Amino acid sequence: MTAMVSAVRSQVLGLVARRFSGGNGPYAGLSMLPDKILWPLHRDGLDPVPRMAEWRAQRPVARMPLPFGMRAWLVTGYEPVRQVLGSIDGYSNDFGKFAGRIGISVAQDPGGLGFADPPVHSRLRKVLTPEFTMRRLARLQPRIDAIVAGRLDAMAETDGTADLWHDFALPIPALTICELLGVPYADRDYFQKLSTARFDMAEGAHTTLDTIGESLTYLGGLITEQRRNPGDGLLGSLIRAHGDEIDDRELAGLADGVLTGGLETSASMLALGALVLMSDKGMAARMREGDNVDQMVEELLRYLTVVQVAFPRVAVKDVRVADADIRAGDVVICSLSGADRDDVVGDDPERMDPARDPHKSHMAFGYGIHRCVGAELARMELRTAYPALIRRFPDMTPAVPPAELKFRRASIVFGLDELPVNLRG
Ligand code: HEM
Repeated sequence: MTAMVSAVRSQVLGLVARRFSGGNGPYAGLSMLPDKILWPLHRDGLDPVPRMAEWRAQRPVARMPLPFGMRAWLVTGYEPVRQVLGSIDGYSNDFGKFAGRIGISVAQDPGGLGFADPPVHSRLRKVLTPEFTMRRLARLQPRIDAIVAGRLDAMAETDGTADLWHDFALPIPALTICELLGVPYADRDYFQKLSTARFDMAEGAHTTLDTIGESLTYLGGLITEQRRNPGDGLLGSLIRAHGDEIDDRELAGLADGVLTGGLETSASMLALGALVLMSDKGMAARMREGDNVDQMVEELLRYLTVVQVAFPRVAVKDVRVADADIRAGDVVICSLSGADRDDVVGDDPERMDPARDPHKSHMAFGYGIHRCVGAELARMELRTAYPALIRRFPDMTPAVPPAELKFRRASIVFGLDELPVNLRG
């Protein structure tokens, strides 16, 4: 293999791995890809780049250059994105379909739901879904309240400054997922550090790789322990209900999928949402009063759409979407951040409108059979954390000018790597 093919291969692997291993994962070579491929992941402040609106208006399903001579399409319009993601049998998420074509070994399949097709996907999803019903999740609400209060207390004890990313946004979903999975109390500090170290650029890629391996080893040990003595959390409950039909590898894949799917996404929403609230005093006041919190959270989800693109799909048959003829074997990339700024969503979609009554539901959690299984849990975290943060620190301001905020340049999950704030203004 030439050096170039090898480099491109590791970059494409980066695209896959980054979705799974977090913002600064071991294959963070994504940013080395040329802009003609990466531009849908760029932002202009919190907004998609202006080119997104141009493409959506002129060619909502457009050819996109990809390495390895793959024919690929970028879908930016709301209805075409819905058509692709909502298709029952037109597209595949199967990891194996990518693996062979770009030289990745199938053994590198991260497992879990995101890269599986029916019937494997339907079987695993059916196992997981009952753990995410409102009724089952309700038991976590007091725990989420306590986690949020604990972070706010810790910040209140500082000198009046904090890094909202490390001190608030990351630990809240990390600790919530500990609760969800049933990580024993004695291990939580350790597991939280392992999970959040994935995002710590300062420690370097090698350390990140080590911590992912270490957390997978930890989860493997936890599964062995829970097979002997199933606890109250998701792992114990899955083992009790389905222990015979699901093997340890599938269980570890599901647990790691929950961790990677639910950590960086919710953390980015918490950090970026806090940034919006700091810049919009009227909205912050409504959040503080608890006035229509659910509606504001939905609008923040739409406006920020932090998961910028869905997992790549591969067409399994010829299909026409808008006026594009997609052929079997083509790669299709759906821009969720593009779809959520489409006019069909509501008036003036480029504007954040806390009182928006949308015409269509947003696509921040995706659509179709792979729609986010953790959406309700994410909503619980956001609906709890934003009002509590604003109530405790009503005068909080960013500690750096907007131009110095460190937004990720080209990341599937959009976000920041730090958010310094002055807690008392
Ligand atoms: C605000 C926070 C979140 C956002 C914006 C988000 C977004 C998404 C999106 C867009 C997808 C679909 C990707 C696709 O179709 O290719 C997805 C899938 C998924 N999410 Fe989330 N997510 C969030 C929180 C969570 C949480 C809290 C969990 C679990 C604890 C979770 C677990 C998953 C899993 C397991 C999948 C794969 C589902 C499947 O393939 O069937 N997510 N998420």
